[in-house]
Amino acid sequence: ILEREPELLAKFEKHILPLPKPPIDLIAVTQGPGLEPALWVGVNFARALSYWWNIPLLGVNHMEGHILSALIEQKEISNSPNYLISNKIQKSKPQKPINCGLRAISYPALALLVSGGHTELVLVKKPLQYKIIGETRDDAAGEAFDKVARLLNLPYPGGPAIAALAAQMQNAKIKMKNYNAKCKISLPRPMMNSKDYNFSFSGLKTAVLYLVRDLEKQGADIKKLRPAVAKEFQNAVVDVLVSKTMRAAKEHKVKSIILGGGVAANKELRKRLGKEIKSNMPNTKYYIPDTKQTGDNALMIAATALSRYKEAKKTNWKTLKPNAIMRLIT
Ligand code: KG4
Ligand code: ZN
Repeated sequence: ILEREPELLAKFEKHILPLPKPPIDLIAVTQGPGLEPALWVGVNFARALSYWWNIPLLGVNHMEGHILSALIEQKEISNSPNYLISNKIQKSKPQKPINCGLRAISYPALALLVSGGHTELVLVKKPLQYKIIGETRDDAAGEAFDKVARLLNLPYPGGPAIAALAAQMQNAKIKMKNYNAKCKISLPRPMMNSKDYNFSFSGLKTAVLYLVRDLEKQGADIKKLRPAVAKEFQNAVVDVLVSKTMRAAKEHKVKSIILGGGVAANKELRKRLGKEIKSNMPNTKYYIPDTKQTGDNALMIAATALSRYKEAKKTNWKTLKPNAIMRLIT
């Protein structure tokens, strides 16, 4: 990153300095968690903007963004002025301006956060008050999708690729008969019955590795079997996530359940969790982000800044630093 800084500065001077100061109240940036060099790029850009335009700055927790992404409510404003139209660097057609707010929900709430770097069950007792009650001990759910996809020679990111293959299988077991494989396509559900709310997905990835190896030894055509393996793997992940979330939700008698993070794009997960809540906790509300806002996006960071607006007084461009291991706190 350091070696690219002169280039970033040149771009900043070329593209930002000529712009008029925009009508923005607050600049929000992801402060953590994440890879520190990557975080520095965003933080330094936001600091430069904050300094140059003299606009307050706020560092935001990425995971809080994933929680709040499920509560975003958008409405188009039909006749508000859109200053982006006059923005010279806006090459594509500007989108219609939208008005965003956050839905008010009932507490306590439970959030299942599933991304490429994290798998967390978070108890939200009151707005903006978090307690991590369970998390992954090794690989995150999204990371497991990505690693298993690589084992199956599928492209990155692995989540969408595995989900698409799995969708080809209506019933893995019935279809399996057609392939004459001697070995059953079945995978473990790691830690599904452990008493805590932690997760572990690295063993599941290893189980897929051994399964593929065994199938190859039998001379099976892996390419043909890939949909069945993908389906069983997706089922295993969803089984574990849904079962632990429901147990935690019952124990803490939550009134709302939130799903967030890149893996929240997974249709099977969205559907299965929804079904369980409906049949076992019918009075509990279920909030999921629009599929467009499941993966990392700027809107969820803006939504978080909206909720923590007052804290901007405590930060400024001189002192804001990334926090690679930032945690949600009570
Ligand atoms: O939240 P995110 O965009 O980035 C991080 O903060 O990590 O999550 C990215 C993760 C990737 O591991 C990707 O494979 C996974 O989300 N993902 C999915 C799906 N779409 C994205 N996993 C399962 N099913 C999907 N449809
Ligand atoms: Zn993320």
